[in-house]
This record gives sequence, structure tokens and C-alpha cells, in this order.
Amino acid sequence: MGEDGPVSDTLIVHGGSPLNGRVAVRGAKNFVTKAMVASLLGEAPSRLRGVPEISDVTVVQGLLELYGVRVSRSNGDGEMILDPSAVELASTGDIDAHAGSSRIPILFCGPLLHRLGEAFIPDLGGCRIGDRPINFHLDVLRQFGAVVDKLPNGIRIRAPRRLQGTKVELPFPSVGATEQLLLTAVRAEGVTELKGAAIEPEIGDLIAVLQKMGAIISVDTDRVIRIEGVDALGGFTHRALPDRIEAASWACAALATGGDIIVEGARQSDMMTFLNTFRKVGGQFHVDDDGIRFFHPGGDLKSIVLETAVHPGFMTDWQQPLVVALTQAAGLSIVHETVYENRFGFTEALRAMGAHIQIYRECLGGSQCRFGQRNFRHSAVISGPTSLTSAEITVPDLRGGFSHLIAALAAQGASTVHGIGIIDRGYEHFHDKLEALGAKVERA
Ligand code: EPZ
Repeated sequence: MGEDGPVSDTLIVHGGSPLNGRVAVRGAKNFVTKAMVASLLGEAPSRLRGVPEISDVTVVQGLLELYGVRVSRSNGDGEMILDPSAVELASTGDIDAHAGSSRIPILFCGPLLHRLGEAFIPDLGGCRIGDRPINFHLDVLRQFGAVVDKLPNGIRIRAPRRLQGTKVELPFPSVGATEQLLLTAVRAEGVTELKGAAIEPEIGDLIAVLQKMGAIISVDTDRVIRIEGVDALGGFTHRALPDRIEAASWACAALATGGDIIVEGARQSDMMTFLNTFRKVGGQFHVDDDGIRFFHPGGDLKSIVLETAVHPGFMTDWQQPLVVALTQAAGLSIVHETVYENRFGFTEALRAMGAHIQIYRECLGGSQCRFGQRNFRHSAVISGPTSLTSAEITVPDLRGGFSHLIAALAAQGASTVHGIGIIDRGYEHFHDKLEALGAKVERA
């Protein structure tokens, strides 16, 4: 609650006009939060630049502070200093209360095991876009020699002796499990080899941070990462890579509303696959030194067949905003979601707004994925173009929520969007940015 009373969790969106103008993206949520955890491994302060003001960062800051990390921020330029020199055990109750709706606490395991010999991980939150188990994480930790005990309110993990380097092969290139392994292996004794690693740009940046701290990590071809453990690590100074999910979200907002948005900070090299798809749908873009301009050139958008995949494929996190733009494309589009088994729940609200979207259990559009024949409704067929109409919506998850905002902006009339607090988890100052782009939005 601020001085002016509680901020409403509901936004009224007056849609039907194109979004035009300029927005800036800062550091990627899915890297910044991990780099903050990495600072725990060091024996000297770290300096992270480009940190966005989003609530996931606040949650991780709160958790680090519970463990005695001193965190200071200057919000203007997004610099955060993290001093881990007085790390200490935190009480289980406090950890539980701070965990919020984030999944990041699971990544504290390796650093805490090295620093303190034990860790407590509360039941995890995060977006409800599938079961999101943590079996890969726990298997990785056990392979290093950690002992895992399941408790009614979370998991206790202990390292009876120094963790030992190991060989791991992931059944799926999980981003989180790859990060878990990196954050644990860098200070384990001996060499660790990971096969089947995720190689997202955010992971590349985490490896860069760990190398700056003194780690020895090589990334080979074919998803193999090798780490030689070291006895101690120092701090790092690093500017976070830009948020390519937020950048793509604004690009889709430009496409769906017939607008023109310059996304300052967006970087081509992290978004090549998105840019190809954006072009195939009929959007146009210009890449500049300091950002990318995304615009709808007029005329019909084109339907496409698309499959989400791990990097370098089309990110699952780009899928939801793009589906909104595809409701405006002529013909039948097919989207096969292969990363999460249940990431089309948000389309229900789009249907209520007039979109023609059917969800199927089959793997549509080409390849078979691990969700085929298992009753997961993970393929979507979108028939367009349809003019969207306003609706009353409650946002289901972070990316689905932003996608609902895009739909409301593309729709004729005034929509009421409840639960927009979730969007603060990953979209910095989105209300101000929408207004800067000419959107007519007001808190209810
Ligand atoms: C990260 O989640 C991101 N979150 C997600 O972004 C992103 O969608 C995802 O990577 C894929 O790119 C953060 O970085 C905080 P995974 P993560 O482990 O690490 C299964 C957003 O909106 N799996 O790569 O949790 C899992 O169920 C969020 O910003 C297991 O089966 O994703 C999923 O189907 C949403 N067992 C697949 O692997 C495990 O132990 C990929 O998950 C771990 C994962």
C-alpha cells in the first residue's frame, strides 16, 4: 500500500487503437535473478547492471537478504551491489514467507551447500503452465553427493562432505537444471560434465558471470558443458543481457494492434528465430545499434505453422503473445507447444473475445514431442483474422497475462483485466510503457 492507498489489481483497457512509440527493455528477468543467486558463491561483492524493477527481482533480493547478503540498488541506472561476505543460515519460517510465487529458491541449493553445508527449499511457486516438477534438479544435486529429505513444507538438502564433480545427462535440456548444475559444479571438487545442457543466451550470460568470478567452464558442441571445480570464487561486474521475452512481447503488441514500436535495448543475436517468424507472419522490423523497430506494414498478416522448442528454437515464452497476433492473420495457423504440456490455458479468454482457437491433444504441425499420446492439450489451431471484442478477464500467468493485455488492446471497446499484479513479475513499469505507446489504460 502506498501513500495514495492500495494500487488496484485491475486495469481497464480501452482497445482498438494501434500502439506507437518507443519503449526500453533492461536486463532479462530469467538471467538477472540467476546472477543474483550466483553472487552467493563469491567471497567478494558483485555488481550487476541493467537490473529491472520487477517483483521477481524483489523476491530474490529478499531471500538473499535473509541469508545475510547485503544488497543495495540504485534504480535509475539499474545497478545492484550484492555483498555475500556475511552469509549465514536463515530460519525456515522466514524462507517460507519470502519465497513468494517464484521458482528461483530451488537454485539456491548449490551455493548454500557450498557456503553453509545445508539448504531448505520451500514449496515452489511460479507460473501454472504445467506440472513443473523439480526431479532433474534433485537428481543433479544427489549426483554431487547431496542428501535430499522431503519435509511437509519443502525440501531439506545437506552436503555431508564437499560436493564431488560428476557426470550428468539431462533427459531434456532444462534451463533450470542446467543452471542448478552450473551453480553447484563451479565449487565442487573435480570435474563435472553435463550432456544434454540447455544453451539459452541467458545461460551463456550466467556462464560469463561465473567465469568472471573465477570458474573454469567450457561449452563444447552438442550441448556438452564441462566445469573444473575451484576452491573459491570472487565477485563479478556484469551488465545483464536484454530481456528478449519482453522485447518479443512488445513486437507482438505492435503486430496485433497494427502499430509501430521501437524496442530500445532489444538485441538481434538473441532473437534471430523470433525475427524470422515475425517476418513470416508479415511483420516488418529494422535492426538498429540500440534496438529494434517492429511494425505492421499494413495489409493482411499471414498464417504460419510453428513449433516451440529449446534454444535455438522458437521460445515457449514467445508463444503466448504471438498467438494473439495470429488471431489477426489470414488463414489457419498451427502452433505446437513442445516445452510445456499445458501452456494454452490462456486461449480460453481469447475465445471469449471472439478468437477462433481450437486446442488438440495431438502433436500437430510436423514432429512428435514427448507430450504426444499423453492427453496433454498442447497444439493449437488458430483461424483468422477475427475482430476481437472486449471482455472481463482474469490473468492466469505472467506471459498469458501480458498476452491478454495485448488482446484487450487489439479489441474494440473497454476490457476489464483482473490480476495484473502477476505481470509486474516480469514486465518493468508496463503501465507507464503502455501509456507512452498511446494506450488508453486506467487502474479500476
Ligand atoms: C525457465 O524455467 C524460465 N524461468 C521460464 O520462463 C521458461 O519458460 C523456461 O525456462 C524455458 O525456457 C526462469 O528462468 C525463472 P525448464 P525453468 O527447466 O528453468 C520440465 C517466464 O515466463 N522439467 O527449462 O523452470 C518442465 O516441466 C518463465 O519467464 C522437468 O520435467 O524451465 C518443462 O516441461 C515461465 N523436471 C521443461 O522441463 C525438472 O526438474 C522445461 O523446463 C525441470 C524441468
